[in-house]
Amino acid sequence: MQEKLIEQILETLTLEEKSAMLHGATFFRSGAVEGKGIPAVETSDGPMGVRNEFPGDSWFPVGLSDDFVSYLPSNSALAATWNTERAYEAGQVLGEETRGRGKDVILAPGINVKRDPLCGRNFEYMSEDPFLIQELTVPLIKGIQEADVAACVKHFAANSQETDRLWVDTVVDERALREIYLPGFEAAVHRGGTYSLMNAYNKLNGEHCSESKALLNRILREEWGYDGTVISDWGSVHTTVQAAESALDMEMSVTTNFDEYFFAKPLIEAVKAGEVSEEAVDEKVRNILRMMLRLKMIGPKAGERKQGAYNTPEHREAIKATARESVVLLKNEDGLLPISPERLEPGDPDALTGYRKKKRIAVIGRNAEHMHSGGGGSAEIKALYEISPLLGLKMVLGGNVDIRYAPGYFIPGKKSVNEANWQETSLERQVNRRTDREETEEEARQRQEIEKHREILREEALALAETADEVIFVGGLNHDYDVEGWDRDSMVLPYAQDILIEELLKINPHTIVVMVAGSPVEMPWKDMAKAIVWNYYAGMESGTALAEVLLGRVCPCGKLPETFPALYSDTVTGRNGEFGKPEKVVYEEGIFVGYRYYEKEGVRPAFAFGHGLSYTTFSYDNLRVETARGCSAQGDLQERIIKLSLDVTNTGSMAGAEIVQCYVGDVSCSVERPAKELKAFTKVFLEPGETKTIDLELSRGAFAFYDTERHGFVAEPGEFVLSVGGASDRIWKQETVTLA
Ligand code: BGC
Repeated sequence: MQEKLIEQILETLTLEEKSAMLHGATFFRSGAVEGKGIPAVETSDGPMGVRNEFPGDSWFPVGLSDDFVSYLPSNSALAATWNTERAYEAGQVLGEETRGRGKDVILAPGINVKRDPLCGRNFEYMSEDPFLIQELTVPLIKGIQEADVAACVKHFAANSQETDRLWVDTVVDERALREIYLPGFEAAVHRGGTYSLMNAYNKLNGEHCSESKALLNRILREEWGYDGTVISDWGSVHTTVQAAESALDMEMSVTTNFDEYFFAKPLIEAVKAGEVSEEAVDEKVRNILRMMLRLKMIGPKAGERKQGAYNTPEHREAIKATARESVVLLKNEDGLLPISPERLEPGDPDALTGYRKKKRIAVIGRNAEHMHSGGGGSAEIKALYEISPLLGLKMVLGGNVDIRYAPGYFIPGKKSVNEANWQETSLERQVNRRTDREETEEEARQRQEIEKHREILREEALALAETADEVIFVGGLNHDYDVEGWDRDSMVLPYAQDILIEELLKINPHTIVVMVAGSPVEMPWKDMAKAIVWNYYAGMESGTALAEVLLGRVCPCGKLPETFPALYSDTVTGRNGEFGKPEKVVYEEGIFVGYRYYEKEGVRPAFAFGHGLSYTTFSYDNLRVETARGCSAQGDLQERIIKLSLDVTNTGSMAGAEIVQCYVGDVSCSVERPAKELKAFTKVFLEPGETKTIDLELSRGAFAFYDTERHGFVAEPGEFVLSVGGASDRIWKQETVTLA
């Protein structure tokens, strides 16, 4: 019925009308076919909320007040919750806001694999682990699409660096592609049912992703049977004929010469010249019409399309709940956290007046009050509001505590990345080249000025810390570093924060260190600090959630969705220098990405994948492993063959949640495999003293690897070790199972 209607509509369209549907008529809208009942497709970024409005032919925002929106936690924050229900809910919020803003496609989620800590867009992505990515992406897409809005899963594929992003050739071997870089996208297609997908800027094994037959035609369409729309990343199309022959449907870009886009006039001419078949064009139109039907933009259900809503109180509550769960307690010695109410009780009453001196908290560091929502590149949004950590602390504590702030470090003027037309200029090739030239006299002078200013701020902050009962440092990165279009140069904290943190820890060894950032940083002061809290960009209620965690109103339960290496030189790329090179990057480590690599090399990270502490304690008992009858290596990969059950008890005094993780390791195999790979997890919420039995299921696929000779996943018979624990480096129990 649907396909019939698509054919009927297609018959009414001229070549020119079809071409109009296949490319941007403005920056974020495809061409409508006036008079034939075909609307434009309205797209918008992005992952952390619906982006502000642009006029369509200029990168200067419209600037009205009607595009303030709910600011959602970044995908890295969402991933730190390890909570599939929160992912679903985040999708619902994003979908409703998108529809509420009158859009059809939300250019999210970004699910590229965090291969290297320095990638500028890591904050937009979820994890280094394909399984965690899959499990969160699927509900996220479902939530979005419930609102009659299309998710646009990006960037397909292997887009794990920003440097030279439009041209770099990413060389990835077949096994790594299948085991690490593609599973998230496959799950988005098969289990998430995504209506659209965005190709990556980079080349993959020599072909631009926008015109890659291997990726788009063979894998996506033929193998996965994808019948949704493929949208180009903005400005990623380079040719007419090749792109038209590939399974790309819609060309979007960053320049205003809309009629000159490759899928505009040049496509019409190419069809007329016989260089591109009209059938190829028709196929693209079909994919777009199919998406429109699914979204109820056209077709028999067009009157039933949901209207959506933005800035609702329910959205803010959902965002706050996710923010709370996303905070990761990295370190907590001597019970330094939470700061209990007793510690903040005013001093003893004055004998005569009864006056009680307030306790003082020194909040130090620019990220205590920095607003992040307006930055990051295409993920920027105009947040309805954003609660900073400082505001959060003051809101939660009220007037009986003396909270004083000092910036502590200086952030020089923003980089050119924040210029209005950065989106266009960031695609220019030279902007990503690193310069090795010596600094000019003027630059040296500016540097000295900055250093002087930093010293003044540092002294002021240290003086404040001396007078305080509690010291909380809130630093980290911001969207000058966690940003689209640029990779970081190093994992070192910017703005000389390390010096400040060390000085603070010397003055007050109980200083609580909070890092707000989207990707790992080196923490040379890690052993000195007793309490370290990690906060990804967690949306409009981030500061509230952080304050609640610091003050013990909420028990932290986030876990790292990525490894935090101690030093950049511990990473694959830090060692081989292959990261961030222009032109060509070879993923030499193959499947050994993230913890798979560190475990293989025996490198101890600062904080392991899956790590995250709690204020309460848990015990795990009674691990039962049930294997299905005929638990053999051969058969349907989806079939669930092993069930684990486990009793988890909250043995502490605070309600909290534990994330139980199950890793699989192959004892012996014909190919080299990681020591362990995440294959199941669950999050369990427990009241003090409460016990719950949790179940984890493993399908045959959990034991499989990608066999490059057979071009498919296979599980080999033999023994496998199941490691169950609360982190990749905190395994509670191991069991061996045998596949026949
Ligand atoms: C980014 C995409 C984004 C698009 C539209 C590109 O620069 O890579 O993620 O959706 O612009 O703004």
